Amino acid sequence: MSTVYLNGEFIPKEKAFISVDDRGFLFGDGIYEVTAAYKGRLYHWDRHLARANRGLNALRIDFDPATLEDVHYRLLKENGLEKASVSYVYLQITRGVAKRTHKFPPNPVEPTVYMFAGEYQRPARERWEEGYTSVTVNDVRWARRDLKTIQLLANVLGAQAPVDRGADEIVFVQDGMAIEGSHNNLFMVFGDTLVTHPLSNQILGGITRSVVFDLAAELGYEIQERCVPLEEMFQADEIFHTGTLSEVKPCIAVDGKPIGTGKVGPVTRALFDAFLADAERTAQGG
Ligand code: PDD
Repeated sequence: MSTVYLNGEFIPKEKAFISVDDRGFLFGDGIYEVTAAYKGRLYHWDRHLARANRGLNALRIDFDPATLEDVHYRLLKENGLEKASVSYVYLQITRGVAKRTHKFPPNPVEPTVYMFAGEYQRPARERWEEGYTSVTVNDVRWARRDLKTIQLLANVLGAQAPVDRGADEIVFVQDGMAIEGSHNNLFMVFGDTLVTHPLSNQILGGITRSVVFDLAAELGYEIQERCVPLEEMFQADEIFHTGTLSEVKPCIAVDGKPIGTGKVGPVTRALFDAFLADAERTAQGG
């Protein structure tokens, strides 16, 4: 039985209920974070915290998520995940419970804070080495994708596309540009250069994306943040997705067209190995 956290209490999941008047339920009025933990240690929590704060400020929800670091660790413990190779904690903060009206509740209410933890099975290395495939999907999301809000309908419909079309991931495309995945960011490799969409309201500024920037600098790869037309994307030597739990995920074909050699490339492999080493440093308490 799993233990979750709801509004200050650690309770069995079966006993966790929220009101039908919760603005998260009615409007998708809230934010979320998913933070990975390696051997029970949170991976770059400071960066997740900064993003959560930014989202809460943008939505004008008055709550300090810094108070939740301990809750993350307690949830991992309560669910027996302290030694798990890879696990994660999900955090959701909504504007709270109030009679339905589009504008903010006239009298401020307490935000609803819900968190749960789970284990993640990283695919076997042999599976990773086979690579993954993606399909392009027209990006119909709203104009503030930089905020990690819980209203994810376009992401949900996007994520179903590869299930329906026999692939693994997607590339959202807007105005002919390759933007990002349904729940991860997108990198293209040209020689020794990594190219990814710039931070803007068009993409979520991924924590894993920022980690890959650090690792790429250490490995001596150049990084260019710029918009990439789809035709150029198809000319890349390698493509990979990055995200919490996606980690560094090689994409060997898009819409059935092979990328580069059609096999997992050396740059993606070097970055994944560097990522695994970084995760291991976290696992060791570094
Ligand atoms: N998704 N882009 C989108 C649209 C995302 O939803 C995510 C994360 C990312 C990568 O961000 P990060 O590296 O911080 O995980 C990029 C989370 C994992 C999810 O929705 O479950």
